[in-house]
Amino acid sequence: MNHFTYRKRVLHAEEVPLPAIAEAVGTPVYVYSSATLRRHFRVVTEAFGSHPHLVCYSVKANSTLAMLGLLVEEGSGFDIVSGGELARVLKVGGSPEKTVFAGVGKTAEEMAQALAAGILFFNVESAEELAQLDAVARAQGRCASFAIRVNPNVDPRTHRHIATGLKSSKFGVPFDEALALYARSKRMKGLQAVGVDCHIGSQITRTAPFKAALGKVAGLYLALKEKGHPLRYLDVGGGLGITYVSEAPPSPAEYAKTALSAVAHTGATIIFEPGRVLVGNAGVLLTRVLYRKKTPERTFVMVDAGMNDLMRPALYDAHHALQPLVQRRGQTLPVDVVGPVCESTDVLARQRPLVLPRQGELFAVMSAGAYGMSMASNYNSRPRPAEVLVDGAAWRVVRERESVEDLWRGERA
Ligand code: LLP
Repeated sequence: MNHFTYRKRVLHAEEVPLPAIAEAVGTPVYVYSSATLRRHFRVVTEAFGSHPHLVCYSVKANSTLAMLGLLVEEGSGFDIVSGGELARVLKVGGSPEKTVFAGVGKTAEEMAQALAAGILFFNVESAEELAQLDAVARAQGRCASFAIRVNPNVDPRTHRHIATGLKSSKFGVPFDEALALYARSKRMKGLQAVGVDCHIGSQITRTAPFKAALGKVAGLYLALKEKGHPLRYLDVGGGLGITYVSEAPPSPAEYAKTALSAVAHTGATIIFEPGRVLVGNAGVLLTRVLYRKKTPERTFVMVDAGMNDLMRPALYDAHHALQPLVQRRGQTLPVDVVGPVCESTDVLARQRPLVLPRQGELFAVMSAGAYGMSMASNYNSRPRPAEVLVDGAAWRVVRERESVEDLWRGERA
């Protein structure tokens, strides 16, 4: 459920008419709904009921400070993948002791920074990374808590670019090797094993892959406990999908039921790392129609948001619904909605049935809260969009539109 709805044919974010924001701030602009984000967080954390658990929001999905701040208010933990994300979490008062650190390429500096901050644990993805973490911890006179991210070799049945739990993937460690790594870690003075981790992919819309993966991980957790490792955490990763078009992903309650049925018997505290399910449908990208052009083959509509602002369609063939900010009646025809970037993949929507858009007309690209702004770039020397946070009838700019001066900051001509 989200708070983007039509009232008298005008699309609103909560109580605010979106055309008002587009006029005041300009386009392209990301607009987020606080009520939607808060609600999603509560639904997700309540889904696990009384079983000990910690929701660690996956910062990569949307790392805007104001969004992280809202999640801090809700009591969220964080799943980070870089020193930059750690700095953002700390900046908004997030708790390091509720933060877990993933990624296949953490540098020694990033490890040192996270250790000094006192994060909950590191999710380690290779033998060499484990040795590096041990060295960094010993140099600080500390002991680093860690989990091994295991690769359960389960097909999440999602887009191949966002599948991570297959044998061929760069992520995680095979089960057999994981056992050996935990055993070796007992002899490493800078390390303390505290859990087991997995994450099999993103935008997963069925429960079966989660069930298969978590069943295997629970088995490993118990085997390790038996070998005397004092484990407490079972990190089940993120990956729960959302509805972009007609997908029917499991609800957070259904997801949690599946996860708990696979791992509750271990007695471990569950760490869940949702990204998309929290923020995806809490954000839209507003864009304005620049021009239209008819060719013998197609009708093109050029808008002012490009693949640099929202990369998902170009990168994953992702489908985002397009909603006019002011509904109007008329016959629909298939149009290609394209951005201004000089790449043929800069297509927001292909052959999308729309009432022929007019010049200057405003559209909302729906479900753009996750992996939208956080993946935006400056390609074609395009300043990144502004961001606005709505709360009831109030709204404020939470990130200014970049200026061209921002683009060359640090450069020397
Ligand atoms: N935990 C780990 C270790 C992850 O790698 C990810 C996402 C998550 C949690 C959060 O997954 P989520 O709940 O959001 O599915 N840019 C792509 C998605 C990449 C996901 C990367 N890892 C997209 O736009 O679809």
